[in-house]
Amino acid sequence: MFPEPLPTKSSTLMKSEIRIDLVSDTATRPTAAMREAMAKAPVGDESRGEDPSVNALCRRVAELTGKDAAIFLPSGTMCNQIAILVHCRHGDEILTATDSHIVNSEGAGAAALAGAFIRELPSVRGMFDPDALREAVQPKTYARAPRTSLVTVEQTNNAGGGSIWPLAKLQAIRETARGEGLKMHMDGARLLNAVVASGTTARAFADEVDSVWIDFSKGLGCPIGAALAGSHAFIKEAWTWKLRLGGGMRQAGIMAAAGLYALDHHVERLAEDHANAQLLAAALRDIPGIDIDLTPVETNLLFFTLMDATAEQLASELLAKGIRIGVESPVSMRAVTHIDISRADILEAADVIREVMADADRLRATA
Ligand SMILES: Cc1ncc(COP(=O)(O)O)c(C=O)c1O
Repeated sequence: MFPEPLPTKSSTLMKSEIRIDLVSDTATRPTAAMREAMAKAPVGDESRGEDPSVNALCRRVAELTGKDAAIFLPSGTMCNQIAILVHCRHGDEILTATDSHIVNSEGAGAAALAGAFIRELPSVRGMFDPDALREAVQPKTYARAPRTSLVTVEQTNNAGGGSIWPLAKLQAIRETARGEGLKMHMDGARLLNAVVASGTTARAFADEVDSVWIDFSKGLGCPIGAALAGSHAFIKEAWTWKLRLGGGMRQAGIMAAAGLYALDHHVERLAEDHANAQLLAAALRDIPGIDIDLTPVETNLLFFTLMDATAEQLASELLAKGIRIGVESPVSMRAVTHIDISRADILEAADVIREVMADADRLRATA
């Protein structure tokens, strides 16, 4: 087969053979109504600022987050990297939680592009406390020390199990960051999941940071796109980086229309994904050999640990039955609920997992 599929952390099957895809909320397909909105979108040259749909989406995200302006980008990774490029100079240090996306999953972009390095703070479920932050900031009086300039948070925390930074905790981090003269950036890949699950507004969360983005291609069900928001000065600089990196687009309104559609129709429904994650958690809790309680389920991400079998083994048995779940480590797995997963899919997936796990002796033997 050419081209070869890119290596991923979990085993791959052809998409058409997978009936229930719990590997990520990026597995969503645009709905017929979303495709119709995309087809009808008024468009223009985005890289000249002339695409009406992109401009409408950016205004919408700026309003939602209470920021001056926003910029449309192809991916969440580009939002993080451009924010780092704007906030940091070469040699700067970024503080963030252990295992955050910018640490493990962005190709060391902070180092490669901005010349900044990342120090991970001891964290629980993707969250660190103000003391850990304060202690990690390099002394400004010591000329040999790297200059700490940025702290980043993920809302929700991916590797932290979809956990939500409570507003008060975020405020405490903000206060410390401000006291230390640090800028603060929020990776909001799943900010709207946090909003729907907590009842706190996006604006309230975003008020605590200098820059923030939301992803359209995850729980919101769009095929592509993310929008990064901040002050006028921040967004002006972000535009320079976007064009420098080749992120300028042409008739991107087709993509922005999907985002506008999703903001109107796919936000409240995230509650269904959270309920489905809870349903799966409840079912897994009753299956011998599975430990689900290490990371409580707050939103649409669910991590579980296997006591007798390897994750690769369970994943491949499930794949053979058309169900895909991500492998996180030799003994842990991640399931993600999203718009293309129904309650019936969850019940079916739970039944199949129960069936496969009942055969734990065979799983162990083939592991
Ligand atoms: C927390 C987090 N940040 C950033 C990203 C990157 O987003 P994208 O895939 O749109 O580049 C992801 C993707 O899964 C993520 O989970």
